[in-house]
Amino acid sequence: MSEVLSETLREEALHAVGAAPDLPALQAVKTRYLGKSGLVTKELGRLGQLPPEERRRRGAELNVLRQAIEAALTEREAVLKREALDARLASEALDVTLPGLPLPAGGLHPTGRVLGDLTGIFERMGYEVVEGPEVEDEQHNFEALNIPWYHPARDLQDTFWLEDGRLLRTHTSNMQIRYMVTHDPPLKMVSRGKVYRYEATDATHEAMFHQLEGLVVGDGISMADLKGTLAEMARGLFGPGARVRFQPSYYPFVEPGADFAVWWDNPRGESKWLELGGCGMVHPSVLRAVDDLREAAGRERVYEGKTGFAFGLGPERIAMLKYGIPDIRYFYANDPRVLGQFRGELG
Ligand code: DAH
Repeated sequence: MSEVLSETLREEALHAVGAAPDLPALQAVKTRYLGKSGLVTKELGRLGQLPPEERRRRGAELNVLRQAIEAALTEREAVLKREALDARLASEALDVTLPGLPLPAGGLHPTGRVLGDLTGIFERMGYEVVEGPEVEDEQHNFEALNIPWYHPARDLQDTFWLEDGRLLRTHTSNMQIRYMVTHDPPLKMVSRGKVYRYEATDATHEAMFHQLEGLVVGDGISMADLKGTLAEMARGLFGPGARVRFQPSYYPFVEPGADFAVWWDNPRGESKWLELGGCGMVHPSVLRAVDDLREAAGRERVYEGKTGFAFGLGPERIAMLKYGIPDIRYFYANDPRVLGQFRGELG
């Protein structure tokens, strides 16, 4: 090998090192010149065939060449590593001064607003607010409420039955039973939650909706207490001018029973009587059934001889009127265009 060749090799190698765009390419250059069968390594391997004089000179020359390539590789590697790090830092950079993306703020659902108003009114009157199971048994949803299996009232509330014989509660009246079994009189409670009916949906019927149930039991509780309480609720909901009207009605768990309506002074349109729900004096059969359940659970019979009233109402009806929502199906379709209108403070 001539000195010219060695010079050529050096120029080529240093150029290749300088031109390597990244670390893998640089590694390839290293292999090409200094690897086991690299160009410089091969030349070194040939030294043995040279006469001693020539060998020393050539050996020194090749060593200088190898060191020069190694030095260039080391330098280039440092540069490439810094560049790679800079690139990564730049790509991962987080500009904390950028303005944030606007996230749509949620709002209270109209049903939740009305339920919140209602429970607030009753809490201020000293009622306990409770919730209960949506999967219920026949005993608490029907039997103990004086609705035996053959009773036509069962047809009024078409039921979702589960395979194990339980059901999705058709009303929150189940909580009257549950509460009385575990609490002694006198008591004042309201219970709110979801109820389910197996029926075709339309603008005023959904298969799932909410109810608020109220129950007061003690000594000498009368129909006048019931009416006064509902009038107080109406004033809390619709202002001091609100009035309540009763119409005789029938529910198996109350006697006498009534439907009640509230006079709604609509500031935005036609004022009218708003049918809100049912109510009445707790039926003696219900109190007896509760005592039976208590006895079976090892508790004292304490309800027979007491008197009380109960009521149940649907908050969706109130929300539809209050907020001018024309179709109950809008409530649970979760369309953001509907719910978006209830952001912020809507009175
Ligand atoms: N549970 C009845 C229903 O869902 C509503 C009701 C009526 C509840 C009269 C009561 C009541 O507590 O006394 O239709």
